[in-house]
Amino acid sequence: MSSYVTRKTPGDTAWFTHDRFGMFIHWGLYAMPARHEWIKNRECIPEEHYDKYFKYFNPDLYDPKEWARQAKAAGMKYVVLTTKHHEGFCMFDSKYTDYKCTNTPAGRDLVREYVDAFRAEGLHIGFYYSLIDWHHPEFPIDRLHPRRKDPDAEQQNQGRDIRKYAEYMRNQVTELLTNYGKIDILWFDFSYSRPDPNDLPWMKGKGKDDWEAEKLIALARSLQPDIIIDNRTEIEQDIWTPEQWQPTEWVRHKETGELVTWEACQTFSGSWGYYRDETSWKSPEMLIRMLVNTVSCGGNLLMNVGPTARGYIDYRAEEALGVFADWMKYNSRSIYGCTQAEPEFKAPADCRFTQSVDGKRLYLHLFAYPFAHLQVRGLAGKVDYAQFLHDASEVKYTEGKMTHFGEGLPENEDMVVFQLPPVKPHCLVPVIEIFLK
Ligand code: GLC
Repeated sequence: MSSYVTRKTPGDTAWFTHDRFGMFIHWGLYAMPARHEWIKNRECIPEEHYDKYFKYFNPDLYDPKEWARQAKAAGMKYVVLTTKHHEGFCMFDSKYTDYKCTNTPAGRDLVREYVDAFRAEGLHIGFYYSLIDWHHPEFPIDRLHPRRKDPDAEQQNQGRDIRKYAEYMRNQVTELLTNYGKIDILWFDFSYSRPDPNDLPWMKGKGKDDWEAEKLIALARSLQPDIIIDNRTEIEQDIWTPEQWQPTEWVRHKETGELVTWEACQTFSGSWGYYRDETSWKSPEMLIRMLVNTVSCGGNLLMNVGPTARGYIDYRAEEALGVFADWMKYNSRSIYGCTQAEPEFKAPADCRFTQSVDGKRLYLHLFAYPFAHLQVRGLAGKVDYAQFLHDASEVKYTEGKMTHFGEGLPENEDMVVFQLPPVKPHCLVPVIEIFLK
């Protein structure tokens, strides 16, 4: 059994750390400007203009069954959709606002169809819910708010009551956690309570006290006791969520040093919402490496797609999902039910280990293909059998030293030398599956 013990979580994270790989979906009105989900903030877009997106939002090609099919094919086991992003627009039929999809040409509850489709494919269901809201009239204007630069911003801000907004959030979270069956993840986003040089004297950031986070979380847990909640309300819950950077070791609790349950979230191209003109798409190799790197450090990966405003996943995102599908079809055994390898196993250069939680199988991922031999220290006497994972073809090995013209090369009692085909197998990142004695 794996010797790593993580900090206890209030929710049920057992399935989560087994499954390792999920799909994030950022979808909202911001898919229409198609230049970042923060566009209302970045360009300080006036309400009259942003209202055009509401007026014309018509995802006529929305087919969540197709999204779910692609997610499943990519090997993703759970999914998290933006039910409301910072723009405040609700993708579900809420009683507490008119600013919702049912009042646009979309005319229906998009969250409902999403839940049904992904659940039918057997994925665990998550809701992203933005704590920030740039539409709600009671949400005080702050340094991130699109109205911050208006000449009368301070006046506009007068009388806004964050307590009313906190209540609105509780009402909506109640809707989300009662009307759609079992919900596995609630992904709040995000807090920024520390003072900032960009704050005008009358502005302040927002954090757990503003959200009344304790109440909000207690409410969520009362409705869905097993639910996994992230840390971004500013109250520690189940998961730590490094974003747009890749941890290179298991994430630890700042004060106690304990290992924590963590999930890196990443994009294909930089922004989360659909961004038409973005050119910074990650290479296929990078995508697979991100997933492997994550699991090799005991974490999960939540990989984002930003569907178009017509409701489909565009060809670039589809290709990127296809990269995962091709690789996971044959190699998912090194991901599901796997974690960081025991400390006795040190991966050689350009390689990453993962290990099954039961300790029986070790997976050696070859990031840079090493030519015909691969020496691994610390393995001698421990290997029972080895094969490539993608085709179950035997990988032969010797212990202690090379046997073939190996003079002058290092000899180490604890070394195993794998004999590999000189040419890289047809697989983006080949994996050697090692059955331990
Ligand atoms: C951020 C951004 C956001 C995105 C999220 C995903 O905090 O505000 O646009 O939804 O992270 O992790």
